[in-house]
Amino acid sequence: MRVFVTGATGFIGSAVVRDLLDAGHEVVGLARSDEGAASLAATGAEVARGTLHDLDILRAAADAADGVIHTAFIHDFADFAASGEADRVAIKTFGEVLAGSGRPLVVASGTGLISQGTLITEETDAPNPPPIPRVSEQTALEFADRGVRATAIRLAPSVHGEGDHGFVPQLIEFARQNGAAAYIGEGANVWPSVHRFDAARLFRLAFESAPAGRRLHATDEQGIPFRQIAETIGAGLGLPVKSLAPDEVEGYFGWFAHFAAIDNPASSALTREWLGWRPEHVGLIEDLEAGHYFTK
Ligand SMILES: NC(=O)c1ccc[n+]([C@@H]2O[C@H](COP(=O)([O-])OP(=O)(O)OC[C@H]3O[C@@H](n4cnc5c(N)ncnc54)[C@H](OP(=O)(O)O)[C@@H]3O)[C@@H](O)[C@H]2O)c1
Repeated sequence: MRVFVTGATGFIGSAVVRDLLDAGHEVVGLARSDEGAASLAATGAEVARGTLHDLDILRAAADAADGVIHTAFIHDFADFAASGEADRVAIKTFGEVLAGSGRPLVVASGTGLISQGTLITEETDAPNPPPIPRVSEQTALEFADRGVRATAIRLAPSVHGEGDHGFVPQLIEFARQNGAAAYIGEGANVWPSVHRFDAARLFRLAFESAPAGRRLHATDEQGIPFRQIAETIGAGLGLPVKSLAPDEVEGYFGWFAHFAAIDNPASSALTREWLGWRPEHVGLIEDLEAGHYFTK
């Protein structure tokens, strides 16, 4: 099939492109820079030049494809409302093009957007109103009743692997800056995780066969205690590991304090049952122990 992929140059999207091509699909990827276009073309994918704000380009590319996988996101935490709105408008644009056709629309979402402190499953509804202004899942799934095979992939907050520039490298940076790896209190809050190649395969499986309206969980490990992540980072950097009292958290983590406190156990049992998805790559701790996270 011919698949239009946004975020095709990103950490996860580039793995999705590779997985799709390996499985025999044709890929048209969105790229907003010369460098991105060149790296995408080198994979064998076609390139659509444009940004998430170029709605005519998004419309034409979606119209010419058998479906859309949307992994692009403007990660601007200083103006997250604008990022969330650009995402909503892009997804709505895809939904309107695909409406009535039965074609797939697969969008990236996050388990961390769903709830905190209790185990979530694929049947757990997204909160309304959302905790932060990102409604990828809600926007896409509205089209499930309008003849679009719309699905959402809820990604673990740590999608890991070589080239990661997400939350785990951020934790490593805080440890370097502070001379110690840290966790909050007992460090008993948990983060689920998934390797990027396993996440990529789930995007493809969803595109190929997930029924309309499904929420799917890209979580290999259901929840790793934050203390264990901090201890592994401390060992990797050769730094001490410490617990932070409540009044130390802001000073250590700054803007990241909210994310460091995430307690987000997330099962993927239904995703595995529905799609036969089986993660095959290493877990987060083993990936950290491999050393590549600590070579700058
Ligand atoms: N990585 C994680 O641990 C994680 C966890 C939970 C959810 N997610 C979600 O998964 C999705 C993919 O994440 P990722 O880690 O692959 O992110 P990433 O590496 O930062 O990639 C983001 C992609 O979006 C593109 N992009 C950014 N701004 C754009 C714009 N204005 N117009 C068009 N394209 C634009 C980037 O293009 P350039 O290459 O040109 O910058 C890149 O291809 C996102 O929705 C993210 O929020 C990721």
